[in-house]
Amino acid sequence: MAVGIIRVLISLYHREMQNLKQLVARLPKAELHIHIEGSLEPAMLLELAGRNGVKLPYPDIDSINDAYNFNCLQDFLDLYYQGMSVLQTEQDFHDLAWAYLQRCKQQNVVHCEIFFDPQGHTERGVDFATFMQGLGSALDRAESELGISSKLIMCFLRHLDEQSALTTLDSALPYLERIAAVGLDSSELGHPPHLFSNVFKRAAELGLKRVAHAGEEGPPEYVYEALDVLLVDRIDHGNRALEDSALVQRLADENMPLTVCPQSNLRLGVVSDMADHPIRKMLALGLNACINSDDPAYFGGYVNENFCALIAAAGVTKDEIFQLVINGFKSSFLTQAEIQSHLERIESMR
Ligand code: HPA
Ligand code: ZN
Repeated sequence: MAVGIIRVLISLYHREMQNLKQLVARLPKAELHIHIEGSLEPAMLLELAGRNGVKLPYPDIDSINDAYNFNCLQDFLDLYYQGMSVLQTEQDFHDLAWAYLQRCKQQNVVHCEIFFDPQGHTERGVDFATFMQGLGSALDRAESELGISSKLIMCFLRHLDEQSALTTLDSALPYLERIAAVGLDSSELGHPPHLFSNVFKRAAELGLKRVAHAGEEGPPEYVYEALDVLLVDRIDHGNRALEDSALVQRLADENMPLTVCPQSNLRLGVVSDMADHPIRKMLALGLNACINSDDPAYFGGYVNENFCALIAAAGVTKDEIFQLVINGFKSSFLTQAEIQSHLERIESMR
């Protein structure tokens, strides 16, 4: 008797999981935190290495997957910079972005705001025009062939100095029409946001929006600096803000978007278990969090897989899924009219 009841409960539970995963697949979604270089899948890594004559320390896909076992941000970044060395021509950048945008289509991601790391390419001798044209043509193609809208966010590498970031911003001047915002990424610890105050001020004067990775590995103080010194429109990650209740209150009061990346958090040791991921707590505290993939080729999944991991392990509910998806659109750099039209479609699916 008891065994029968348990079986029924287990099957109801599985059915509910399936329903929630199907809901995620059906809902139109926005992705606001994706490093295009982090969408370089092992198969494309090998293909481009062959095409460009780049020697990699991996003979095949299995050995790449074996190598992708990092447990902190720096270990990951070392592989990430090595991986991007295969990106050399305009066609390479086009192919990379086009592959990501086709994934978006499969997953019903209808709008994306894509990070790119110019210094990761210019430092290797790749021209600004090469990646801007390659990425740009893929974005245009996605708009016309896939009906996906997108924007580019130019990130400064924080392990390099502010002068290098300022030079990068200067090089971007001919392409400003293409760039919606600037961001700050790479090794967080030891590279606090205030070191980039001048380049973010200049970006603001040029009419660019501003975002910054903060509180991924760095302390709450870095989140304060991103808010108060860089005057950001969004915080990327922000997990460690939870350590400071006054900061949590402020982020909630200001409705500051947090672009949260669950599978990245797990793979980089920001959380130790997906079951302990703080996403539900964030929502309960009134934080404006949304779900993103960060570096999907390295962390095990795109947006839908990130939602599914939270559903399976952290018990995210239907209402929470709607809230996270809505937050993604509301936190985007789309116009109010565009956001409204996405929200109406989502509301019609409740
Ligand atoms: N954090 C910081 N920098 C990055 C990341 C990240 O998760 N991914 C790519 N660059
Ligand atoms: Zn990131």
